[in-house]
Amino acid sequence: MATVVFLLVCIFAVASSLDNGLGRTPPMGWLSWMRYACELDCDTYPDQCISERLYMKIADLLVSEGYKDAGYQYVNIDDCWSEKEREPETLKLIADRKRFPSGIKALADYVHSKGLKLGIYTDMGTKTCAGYPGLLIGNGSATDYILLDAETYASWGIDSLKYDCPGRPILYSCSWPAYQVSEGKTPDYASIAYHCNLWRNFDDIIDSWQSVSSIIDFYAKNQDSFAKYNGPGAWFDPDMIIVGNTGLSYEQSKAQMALWAIFSAPLLMSNDLTAVSEQFKHILLNKHVIAINQDPFGFMGKRVIAGNEQVWVKPVYPLVNGSYSFAIVYLNQRTLGIPTFVSQICNFNYSLSRILDKFEKADFYNVYDLFADAKLLFKLSVQEKLVLHVNTSGSVRMVKLVPVSADHNSL
Ligand code: GLA
Repeated sequence: MATVVFLLVCIFAVASSLDNGLGRTPPMGWLSWMRYACELDCDTYPDQCISERLYMKIADLLVSEGYKDAGYQYVNIDDCWSEKEREPETLKLIADRKRFPSGIKALADYVHSKGLKLGIYTDMGTKTCAGYPGLLIGNGSATDYILLDAETYASWGIDSLKYDCPGRPILYSCSWPAYQVSEGKTPDYASIAYHCNLWRNFDDIIDSWQSVSSIIDFYAKNQDSFAKYNGPGAWFDPDMIIVGNTGLSYEQSKAQMALWAIFSAPLLMSNDLTAVSEQFKHILLNKHVIAINQDPFGFMGKRVIAGNEQVWVKPVYPLVNGSYSFAIVYLNQRTLGIPTFVSQICNFNYSLSRILDKFEKADFYNVYDLFADAKLLFKLSVQEKLVLHVNTSGSVRMVKLVPVSADHNSL
């Protein structure tokens, strides 16, 4: 046991993280930006515009469609929710009067009545990206609206925000490190992990496999410098889950869920919950993959084999006689024109001792297929190979390896 812990401390040591009691596992919920951006025209698009009606409908669907039971709990408002000007006398932010006629407090009450939480968006500049009021006053003023806005959000009952504030525990999400990275700077992740529950550090996700792949590669490239800052209370945020839209195939959708689970990343869906087909819903609600994402250790898993055939691994619960269990993802980035079922090229074939090279290993593992109801596939000795057929074009297989012992023989 001591060896295991020592090895993991070396590989996955977590720097000190924000301990406001929140985000002890990666936050799960829904966020409007990727799908709805800044649609303001409620006359033409009453169901798609940024409005209280949209967020109330999402809250309803999170409950009625089983997402809340699967762990999704935050309904997050993004940009474009406020009036263009602050309230002239109090200087407080006010929600757009036409699109949020009942105000944010009433929306928070509604969301809370469903047993969910409400998040909101702000910006550390004078204006948000879409031109709405930010936290700075401008004109060289040394003061800002940080405290005033923090108090406003707390009084409304907001549960998730980029900036923390007194009197109410608020999940603290930082988007600004992404701008440092895009300017070629290296963010101070130790400080960020100490001050933020989650933070973005890469491009905005869009609805395509190319976008998802670029994020996966960015995380793989930086995994050794990132992993030590990721853990309970402090999470790298590779951006929203786009499953349920039109840009990803069924297989690629499984891949996004699988990799975000390996990263221990927030699972914030951005999709139209009224129109998610059963197939995709099944992926979003996969309790075995979600359990890997929510694993209490909160390790950021790593890519141990790169290239067209990628292998990813993350140590997870349960510990069996001091040995970790593991989530393993095989990701096939090849594109091929031949029928994949006859192609040996689709049979990934890696020895467990190579995949688990850096870890203390048990002698035998039960292997469960996480996209097939956690079916027990086989029992493997650590000397054997994990052979799985993986289709092309961004398909994955995801398994959980649990050490086998006389007194432990299940998932
Ligand atoms: C930035 C963020 C996005 C979204 C927009 C809103 O681009 O990265 O996620 O919040 O701002 O304007």
